[in-house]
Amino acid sequence: MGETRYLCRALDIGEGEAKGFGPIDGARRKVILVRRGGVLRGWLDACPHYSTGTPMAWKTDGYLNGERTHLTCHSHGALFEIETGECVLGPCLGQRLTAVAISVSEEGDVFVALPVEEKSKSDN
Ligand code: FES
Repeated sequence: MGETRYLCRALDIGEGEAKGFGPIDGARRKVILVRRGGVLRGWLDACPHYSTGTPMAWKTDGYLNGERTHLTCHSHGALFEIETGECVLGPCLGQRLTAVAISVSEEGDVFVALPVEEKSKSDN
């Protein structure tokens, strides 16, 4: 991994939690960190329903549905698999969130790879 930017301590994201960071270094959208099954993943806070990539949370860090089983876009209720980013319900069915490359150091610090890659709907 090339240049990176520190986000947080891995322990800051508990099981079944999601938090947003940024936007980082000129990116238009935040990075979502979410943990499920002990695995920490990074997704761009950009719903693929519109090519501009709509921010998804309804309040600060409000990225999960009520059951905390899926990431959700609160604009029109799309649900996304936490593991794959695939939309499984809603107007962007079958489309995916953009994965963001992260790494966790031996000391438990989480870093995001730069630049944060943003894809438009037409890139999918
Ligand atoms: S903008 Fe996300 S579901 Fe419509």
